[in-house]
Amino acid sequence: MRVRKAVIPAAGLGTRFLPATKAVPKEMLPIIDVPTIQYIVKEAADSGIEDVIFVTGRGKNAIIDHFDYYPELEEKLEQQGKRDLLAALRETSSMAKVVSIRQQEPRGLGDAVLCARELVGDEPFVVLLGDDLVDSAVPCARQMIDVFEQYNKSVVALMRVPTDEVSSFGICGGEPLGERAYNLDTMMEKPAVHDAPSNLAIVGRYILKPSIFGYLERVDPGPGKELQLTDAMALMMAEEGFVGCEITGERYDTGDKFGFLQANIAFGLKRRDIAPRLRAYMRDILQQEI
Ligand code: G1P
Repeated sequence: MRVRKAVIPAAGLGTRFLPATKAVPKEMLPIIDVPTIQYIVKEAADSGIEDVIFVTGRGKNAIIDHFDYYPELEEKLEQQGKRDLLAALRETSSMAKVVSIRQQEPRGLGDAVLCARELVGDEPFVVLLGDDLVDSAVPCARQMIDVFEQYNKSVVALMRVPTDEVSSFGICGGEPLGERAYNLDTMMEKPAVHDAPSNLAIVGRYILKPSIFGYLERVDPGPGKELQLTDAMALMMAEEGFVGCEITGERYDTGDKFGFLQANIAFGLKRRDIAPRLRAYMRDILQQEI
């Protein structure tokens, strides 16, 4: 069955970015002039996704507004002949059909996915985590949908990380299945370095069969009463199998201050309107430091 729907959890409080996130959802913090969440929705749309389901919480209305139509502003930009801005504005409201549902309490990623159950229905779907920005020639979600279509099993995105970072990620182990694909036999959420089965870390992209909802109901909440998606995926892996897809591309952790800055610089260096000045500026300040 074709993957048409995306679930984007966006209920987190964004405490790592306070005070910026006191009144502004962290998903709306921009990489240059585009909110991080727009890159995520664009990746989904470019991967063939038609419907986007945001799982939100209190204070997140700006996300929904961002992907809505804004006819008054469109009219103004049209009158002023600001074509580029008009095109950029129209893109935000035409990328995908967007709906939202609220997660009543922040009870973890697994619970956020479970909140989308009715809206997803009985079909496979992609989950995209907003903090993981992946810049790649083939959109990350598309790479995974291709693997899903090949093996007809749920798929998780993987990337190798330095050993000392394994305890910050979900980590998987398994046997190679094909090019960049693994038949997984182990999944652990943030293991200690000596327990980790490999350095293949889960990047925040998942293609899940709808049977995941049943597994989510079966797992017990972990530390902080959070329902871990990884725990439900491990159950699914044992009963139905699970494929890991080692993705290609550059990953930025925009939920981390340094990762956010890195993404701004990397994306700035790719922008024709900004790159020459940014490059010259960076050269200057680096010379001053030497
Ligand atoms: C979540 C997942 C984890 C994954 C990570 C990727 O963790 O639970 O398995 O490796 O995203 O960013 P979080 O960073 O939200 O704690």
